[in-house]
Amino acid sequence: MSKQRIAIFASGTGSNYEAIMETKDLPCEVVLLVCDQPDAHVIEKANKYGTPTFVFNVADYENRAAYEKEIVEQLKKANVEWIFFAGYMRLIGPTLLNEYEGSIVNIHPSLLPKFPGLDAIGQAFKAGVNETGVTIHYVDAGMDTGPIIAQETVPITTEDTLVTLKEKIQAVEHKLYPHTICQLLKKHHD
Ligand code: GRF
Repeated sequence: MSKQRIAIFASGTGSNYEAIMETKDLPCEVVLLVCDQPDAHVIEKANKYGTPTFVFNVADYENRAAYEKEIVEQLKKANVEWIFFAGYMRLIGPTLLNEYEGSIVNIHPSLLPKFPGLDAIGQAFKAGVNETGVTIHYVDAGMDTGPIIAQETVPITTEDTLVTLKEKIQAVEHKLYPHTICQLLKKHHD
């Protein structure tokens, strides 16, 4: 059975990318890392794991359609079937969405629909709620709005600081994302 070919999109540290790469028996091959930040740490990590990268700078393009056109070319060239966002900090437009809708997945550090957008962990912490969590969902044109695939709750205790809460959420992310990717790909394999 041939492995499905996936791309990971990231803009920053890449701890979720790393967690995926460290997963045993992944039913897929990570064939491309797409990154919009030429200085991001995730690029060093991709080099370490030998994942081919497509790194771009939005300032070099006229508009979103222009850089997404190039992303789609790279994805097609690498025969990518699924895209997993792991801290990719951009909304996507029709150029990319129309090609891959239903096969693009994102991880977000809150229990969506609560706390969408930037700094979801900080938003939950400041709101004083007693639980938050992690959501994995399909990507649509909105900000963290697509259909939910998996969620896990993370309690917030009175001892928590923003730092400990982030650690707890990341620990959940690093297990839940690889697990959900495995389930999803097994379910969709012909
Ligand atoms: C994660 O918290 C993820 O939920 C959010 O961006 C963060 C990426 O972290 N979308 P990392 O780059 O994988 O360490």
